[in-house]
Amino acid sequence: MKHLLSAADLSRDDAIDVLDEAQRFEQALAGREVRKLPTLRGRTVMTVFYENSTRTRVSFEVAAKWMSADAINVSASSSSVNKGESLRDTAKTLRALGADALVVRHPASGAAAQIARWTNDGSDVLSIPGQSGPSIVNAGDGMHEHPTQALLDAYTIRQRLGGLDGRRVLIVGDILHSRVARSNALLLSTLGAEVVLVAPPTLLPTGVDTWPVRVATDLDSELPGADAVMMLRVQAERMNGGFFPSSREYSVRYGLSDLRMAMLPEHAVMLHPGPMLRGMEVGFDVADTPQATVLEQVRNGVHVRMAVLFRLIAGAEDAAPAHHTAIE
Ligand code: CP
Repeated sequence: MKHLLSAADLSRDDAIDVLDEAQRFEQALAGREVRKLPTLRGRTVMTVFYENSTRTRVSFEVAAKWMSADAINVSASSSSVNKGESLRDTAKTLRALGADALVVRHPASGAAAQIARWTNDGSDVLSIPGQSGPSIVNAGDGMHEHPTQALLDAYTIRQRLGGLDGRRVLIVGDILHSRVARSNALLLSTLGAEVVLVAPPTLLPTGVDTWPVRVATDLDSELPGADAVMMLRVQAERMNGGFFPSSREYSVRYGLSDLRMAMLPEHAVMLHPGPMLRGMEVGFDVADTPQATVLEQVRNGVHVRMAVLFRLIAGAEDAAPAHHTAIE
């Protein structure tokens, strides 16, 4: 695997390999005061974010540092992007500065894939025969995909429920604007889960009939049969000032209240990718209940992103045990 641009890049075996690798990293670091592995010593990971982020950007940086890579955060707001530099020139500049991996978030769908082409097409003077450009990780491209979020969600469900095969996962809310929903629909179905999208018709994308999912509009009738329910943030910033149904109506029909939590089976878990709007898509206290996995998802994100960076930069075949042995 050279890049991770879409959840569709992952076969079932690839996805399970990444989750297993993440588990090995989690076990290697469990209970250690010094969280440092030699895995990517001498390698350089750059994060380039053109949209806001807390979880994804920081967890990639932590993941790189825990594997001894040099982790460099390029903030679009304080870079030469603000002087008008193009995405292509910025990407090629970061390649010239020695990036082994570029972790990219951008508001345009397909931006990460485009950067992968620009930095790996062998067309610039820095190209060395037999040596390719940096690995590109899509850390969210517009309303399109967020594959590492789907991997950490799958990891969290597997950890809580023991597996994904045959599990029913509801993805609830603003599917239309959600890159998390698309990546999860693809990955969870690849891993054998039954995915049900629950949303008002106005917040479903065109073409959803081609996704490997079932679509429903009535949340209350779906909750009793769910093994996991993933609540999505309502993405007002992508709605040009308003949406239908109104926020009040949305919260009443699709918000996960205490009463609705009680409709879930006892074993079921509640996920949210964050950031959460408490009082909107989830009740104020719902995310703090034992069934909620919100902070586990954040923590698991570090191990999953370690696994992704490791497999992209070091290669799947380079699985020497030393990579999972902590530095004392
Ligand atoms: N889930 C997620 O992508 O969160 P951030 O926007 O904080 O990275």
